[in-house]
Order: sequence, then C-alpha cells, then structure tokens
Amino acid sequence: MPDAPADPARPLVPEPAYDHYLVGLDLRDRDVVIVGGGSVAQRRLGTLVAAGANVTVVAIQPTPAVESHAGVRVVNRAYRTGDLDGAWYAMAATDDPEVNAQVVADAEAAHIFCVRADEARRGTAVTPASVRRDGFNVGVLASGDHRRSAALRRAIAAGLGDGTLAAAPEGHHAAGVALVGGGPGDPELITVRGRRLLAEADVVVADRLGPASLLDELGPTVEIIDAAKVPYGRAMRQEAINDVLVERARAGKFVVRLKGGDPFVYGRGFEELIACVEAGVPVTVVPGITSAIAGPAAAGIPVTHRAVTHEVVVVSGHVAPDHPDSLVDWNALGALRGTVVIMMGVERLAQFADALIAGGRDSATPVAMIENASTSRQRTLRATLHTAAEVARTEDLRPPAIVVVGDVAAFDAASGTTGGERSDGVGDRSASEPGMETDPAAR
Ligand SMILES: C[S@@+](CC[C@H](N)C(=O)[O-])C[C@H]1O[C@@H](n2cnc3c(N)ncnc32)[C@H](O)[C@@H]1O
Repeated sequence: MPDAPADPARPLVPEPAYDHYLVGLDLRDRDVVIVGGGSVAQRRLGTLVAAGANVTVVAIQPTPAVESHAGVRVVNRAYRTGDLDGAWYAMAATDDPEVNAQVVADAEAAHIFCVRADEARRGTAVTPASVRRDGFNVGVLASGDHRRSAALRRAIAAGLGDGTLAAAPEGHHAAGVALVGGGPGDPELITVRGRRLLAEADVVVADRLGPASLLDELGPTVEIIDAAKVPYGRAMRQEAINDVLVERARAGKFVVRLKGGDPFVYGRGFEELIACVEAGVPVTVVPGITSAIAGPAAAGIPVTHRAVTHEVVVVSGHVAPDHPDSLVDWNALGALRGTVVIMMGVERLAQFADALIAGGRDSATPVAMIENASTSRQRTLRATLHTAAEVARTEDLRPPAIVVVGDVAAFDAASGTTGGERSDGVGDRSASEPGMETDPAAR
C-alpha cells in the first residue's frame, strides 16, 4: 500500500505513473536554491557548481563542508517564502518535512522544478543517479527506487571503465527485416533480443501501440517511420507498410518493424513476413509479450488459476458477433467456464456480453476491463457481464483495452484475493461481487 498523502495539495502520483522525463538543464549563470545544508546539499553542490549554477544554500546549521564550499552563497537562517524568487531550480533538503513541503509548494506556485529529498514523489523533479565518463553524462532514473538506479549507475560506471560498455555506431547489422514484438507498452516488457535489434536498426517502422518511449533512445541517424501514418486506406495501408519494409531492406538497411504486443497476435505480422519472403528479403520474427496476457497481469489478474479455470480463449472484437465477416463462434464461447479475453472489444462490448450470455454464460460472471495496460495511464474497471457495457460507457473506457471475462476477472493481486467464489454455482459470491473499481494503486 502506498503511504497516505500527508500533503493533499500534492497527492502521490498513482503507481505506476511515477515516470519522469529525463532532461539536461543548462544552469550556467542561473540561480539554484538548496534549502537545507546537510548531506544532500553536500552531495549535490559539486555537480551544480560544475554546471555553472549560481547556488544559494539556505540553512540554519549548514555542515562545515557546505558552508565552506567554493562558489556557493550560504544564507544562515530558516527558510522563508520568497527565498526561491528568481531561481530556475530548487531542492528541498532539510530534515523537517513541513519545511520541505513548503519549499515544494512555493516552488510549484512559481513554476520552479523542485527536488524533495525526503520524499522524492512529492517533488516536481528528481535527481538521477549519474555517472560521467569520456564525455558522456549518463543519468539513471528507476521510478523512485534509488537502490536500483544506484546499482545500474555502478554497473554503467564499471562497464565504461573496463570497456565492456562502449558506444557502438549504428548500421552494422546485415540488411533485412526483424518483426519485433514490443510488448504491451511498458518499455521494460520488450524482449532482450527485441531491444538489442532495435538498437541496431537503421530504420524503425513503429506502430501506435507498444513501447513508444523506446524510440526516444534511437540514434539521430535512425529513420523512424510511423506506420499509423503510412497513407492510403485501411487495406492499402498494410500493403504500403509491407512495401516500405521490403524497399528499405533492399536498399541495404536493417529494418525493425516494431509492433505492439506480439507480432502474430492480431498484429498482421504474418502478412509482413510473407511479403518479405516473397520479395526474397531476409526476415526474422522476435515474439513479444502479448497484451492479451500481460494486460490482465498488469492489473493483477491471472488469466488462468489452478482449480478455477483451465482454459483461456483470446478473441477479437474487431467485428460484431452477427457480422458476416465474423469467424468467432460466440455461442461456443458462452458455453465455456474459463477465461475469455476480448481484444479490440470496447466499441461493441454490449454485443459481446449479450452474445456470451445468450450462449449460456452467467450474467454475474466477473469482468475486468484494462485500459492502457502496463503504461502510466493504466486503468482497471471491474464489473459483471451484465453491467460491463454500462460501466464502460459511464467510465468512458477507451481503446486500447483488454476485456477479461471469467472468475479470474474478480481477482486482485494487490490484496491477494480471488474476489469471491466461482460463478458456476459453486459457493455464494454475492457478498463479494465486484462493483466497478478504478484503482491503479492496487497493482
Ligand atoms: C490490433 S490489436 C494488437 C494486439 C497486439 N499484437 C498484442 O499482442 O498485444 C490491438 C488491441 O490490443 C489490445 N491492446 C494492445 N495494447 C494494449 C494495452 N497496452 N492495454 C490494453 N489493451 C491493449 C487492445 O485490445 C487493442 O485494441
């Protein structure tokens, strides 16, 4: 459980949205104020002064090291509102949480980014663990987990030091295409191979879904093609994507087709593979973590659970149950007792729920809807088959979302509960039937 916010003016960012934007500040000749003159100030002063900042420390009792630091102005008194005037950057680093909260509040009012040393999540900036070597300045942030960022910093420092980590130029991979599953969105949920090939790409053709933030890490010479913007109509768009893959590979480039989830799960990956094979272009497939499984997992829902469900069916909601193009036997799905995972199902949720109920599924069957799974915008709605469409409507559920139907949809990993008894008549689940819940912190 996260701490209850002590400062209601600045509530904790719900997990896992604690994701900062890493940036380099030009602090030359700019005022920076550190409130507090202890070990935090001492650690930061060196790099701030080296960056050319005009540093002022406001502290009742600065340590001798802070007091005597070259190039630092020290104000020996308690903090007052107004001390940040003119500053571009601030740090609240006293041992008094109330003072730190006041500094952050004043900084926020003045639009000054401010680090809060005692409770990083309540500040508006955080200091990355950093290492300088050979002209590089590497910063590491780990969603507030200082031990992890410090550990990675140590590893980077060691690697740069002993040469096992080196900046290799791009474009040394043989020409061809890699169809890479990027996972559901969290950049850490791509495979090791996928990430390595991405780092070696000359061209990246990227989908709308998937780990978009990884594109930020690509070198400046890498050509990024937004597949969602490739022109022509829907059917033609796939052809145009195929063409671009083949054409760039024939031009000698190594092309990564970065797709959301797994390339072969509603990803049209096999069409791209066929296009490459037919064109004689070398192609490799790197499977990805599909959102069909990872989406529920990110919300604390296992798609199978011993003695509860022995089957999981992933189904496309791309067309309505009665659409002539539908290849899904919704009646058969309604007769299942296990988990049904509906992808692309937001728009027609009412029709799918009706079809499952018509096929025999209990209308009280739990449903979970996970929007933007594994990203900072993840949201989970809970309902039953009977209420799902209404809950989705009132809560304005938007794609991309995964809809999980089945007893596991009532599970809650945060509390370690299974949300009640089975919906097939075993036990009484009325007392624990889930209503609708939006609880990103419960992951
Ligand atoms: C065209 S399919 C692509 C599926 C992808 N290949 C995979 O394996 O996850 C798009 C659908 O995947 C689901 N989806 C993909 N990423 C998602 C995410 N981060 N959160 C929730 N649903 C997601 C949604 O149902 C969305 O409509």
